[in-house]
Amino acid sequence: MDKINAAITGVNGWVPEYKLTNDELATMVDTSDEWIMQRIGIKERRILKGKERGSSYMGAKAVEGLLKKTGTSPEEVDLIIATGVTPDMLFPANANIIADLVGIKNAWGYDINAACSGFIFTLQTAVQYVESGKYKKVIVVGMDKMSSITDYTDRTTCPLFGDGAAAVLLEPTSEDVGIIDHIFGVDGSGRHYLHQKAGGSAKPASHKTIDAREHFIYQEGQAVFKFAVTKMADVSVEMMKKHNLTSDELDWLVPHQANMRIIEATARRMGLQREKVMINIEKYGNTTTATIPLCLWEWEDQLKKGDKLILAAFGGGFTWGSMYLKWAYDGAGRK
Ligand code: UT7
Repeated sequence: MDKINAAITGVNGWVPEYKLTNDELATMVDTSDEWIMQRIGIKERRILKGKERGSSYMGAKAVEGLLKKTGTSPEEVDLIIATGVTPDMLFPANANIIADLVGIKNAWGYDINAACSGFIFTLQTAVQYVESGKYKKVIVVGMDKMSSITDYTDRTTCPLFGDGAAAVLLEPTSEDVGIIDHIFGVDGSGRHYLHQKAGGSAKPASHKTIDAREHFIYQEGQAVFKFAVTKMADVSVEMMKKHNLTSDELDWLVPHQANMRIIEATARRMGLQREKVMINIEKYGNTTTATIPLCLWEWEDQLKKGDKLILAAFGGGFTWGSMYLKWAYDGAGRK
C-alpha cells in the first residue's frame, strides 16, 4: 500500500477591519512610527471590536470561508484542532465553539496551546491523524485576539501584537506532496520571560492581580529576542541540511511574524533572498498562532504544486520548530 501523506489542500484567513496604526498607538503611549518600524517592522495591526466577541469569532470566520472555498460540507469534517493563547474561555475549547458556529457535527476536536509555535505544533498533530489512514478531512485553525491581553499602557509590548485567524484543511494523498518532516523543541525554563502571570490555576483572578495588571502579556523582550533569533534559524538550517536542500532549491520560508529583524536574520542564516520569504508583519503584527497560516493564505495564489516550503516559529514557553513540506496544489483554485 502506498504511504499516506498529509497535505494542506486549502487555506483561508480572516482579519478584523479595524486598523490600529503606529500613529494611533503614539497617542496612547510614548512611542513613534519611526521607532516601531525600525525595531519591529510593524506599521499597523488589526483589532477585533464588538462586545463579548472572542477569538472563536475570527476562527469561525476563517473555517467557514475554508469550507466554502474547498467545497467541503461541515458534516464531512472528521476532526478540528484549534490553537491559540486567547481562547474565548479557559474551557470549553475553542474547537468546540467553532464546530458549533459553523455546523461541524460529525467531528471531535480540542485545543492545543504552544504559544506562537501553536500553528506548527497543531499542524503536526493533525498530520498524525491523517497519516494513520483513519482521518480524511482535518481542520487546523490558529486564532488569537491578542488585543484582549495586551496592555495598551506598556510601550514595550503594545506595538507588537494584533488580532487574526487562519485555518487549513488537511487531507490524505498518495502523491509526493504534503508535510514531510518537523523538528520541534520546548524549554520550559523560558517561561519566565514571556507569559501571562494571572488568570490560571497558579494565580486565579483577584482584585490584586487586576490592580497589578497581571492579566496582560509580560515579556522581557531582549531575552526572548536572543533566543528566538537563534532557535528559529537553527532549526530551519538543520532542516535544510537534513534534506540536502540548498537555498536555491527551497521555494519559500514561512516564518512566524514577531519581529522583522528576527525574520531577516533567519532568512540570512538560510541563505535566502527576500523574495522567497513571506512577510506580512507590517500589516498585521504578531497574531501569535495565526501568523503562519495568514501568510500561506496571502501567498496562496503564488504557490505551485511541488513548491518546497519551510515553516518556522518561535514562541513563549519557550517553544520553537520548523516544518518542511511540499505544497499540494496550484494557485488559489486548490486541487
Ligand atoms: O512571538 C513571541 C516571541 N516574541 C518575540 O519574538 C519578541 C522578541 N523581542 C523583540 O522583538 C524586541 O526585544 C522588542 C521589539 C520587544 C524590543 O526591541 P529592543 O530592540 O529589544 O528594545 P529594548 O527592549 O532593548 O529597548 C531599547 C530602548 C529602551 O530605552 P532605553 O532604556 O534604551 O532608554 C526602551 O525603553 O527602547 C525603548 N523602547 C521604546 N521606545 C519607543 C521600548 N519600547 C519602545 C517603544 N517606543 N514602543
